Amino acid sequence: MDSGGPVYVGSSFRVTVVARVFGILAVILMLVWLLHYREGLEYDSENPSRVFNVHPLLMLLGLVITAGDAMMAYRSVAAAHNVQKIFHMFLNLLAICLGIIGICAVFKFHDMIKTVDVYSLHSWIGIATITLYCLQWLIGFVSFMFPKASRPTRSRISPLHSMGGRALLYMAVCAALTGLMEKATFLQLQPHQRETRLINFTGLSILLFGVFVELSLTFAGYRVNY
Ligand code: HEM
Ligand code: HEM
Repeated sequence: MDSGGPVYVGSSFRVTVVARVFGILAVILMLVWLLHYREGLEYDSENPSRVFNVHPLLMLLGLVITAGDAMMAYRSVAAAHNVQKIFHMFLNLLAICLGIIGICAVFKFHDMIKTVDVYSLHSWIGIATITLYCLQWLIGFVSFMFPKASRPTRSRISPLHSMGGRALLYMAVCAALTGLMEKATFLQLQPHQRETRLINFTGLSILLFGVFVELSLTFAGYRVNY
């Protein structure tokens, strides 16, 4: 008779490895773009483009890659649940810190080139993502760490917390993809230019990272009920 236990836990671990490969690829492609095709990056530069470039890199490293890794911590960190929870909490905090510095960089860039703030679809998705991400962190901390809700409340919150976290990763991926498209449009890149393809492959790697993080969480949670 079937025990009803999780049957895809092994696959889930392998899928986390695939997710990481796409994550690393996305970061490498982004660095090639910013360092080789663009002017490089520096937060304190006089050159607005170098200041701007801090934004895409930190947003990718923070709200996409570190966030995805934080979500996979319960699958990929071989330790007791409490240790996994601490990893999960700190990685999510790191994601938020990188995200905040990344957003400060683009606000600084807008100040330098004297343009208005938060007018595009990308910036709306971005602001919503970082705001809800901070809220999710606070609610997660209060419910699961300190002062910690009662066991029945925790078990009621847990699926909502998990769904909310996954939705936030989709939102961060949407923000990153709309950001890449917006920048490619501002730069007036031509259809078959190398840089256009590089940006497209960066976007695809980000998308596949998100898909594989989601798959790894789904596999691990899937149980046979028949
Ligand atoms: C999780 C990922 C991202 C988030 C949450 C995010 C968030 C934001 C926010 C809130 C702004 C508005 C800042 C202001 O109005 O002063 C902004 C601007 C901008 N971002 Fe991102 N961003 C992300 C990734 C990216 C990426 C990967 C690129 C690619 C180059 C990018 C390109 C831009 C551009 C061109 C602007 C200036 C134009 C505008 O305000 O829409 N972003 N971003
Ligand atoms: C202090 C902050 C946080 C704490 C203490 C915390 C705690 C937890 C705990 C205890 C679980 C496991 C629930 C269970 O066993 O069913 C969990 C799962 C999860 N959390 Fe958090 N969390 C925090 C922040 C966040 C944030 C900011 C996000 C994303 C935006 C997030 C996304 C998730 C996801 C997607 C899962 C499901 C993981 C899986 O299925 O393996 N968490 N969190």
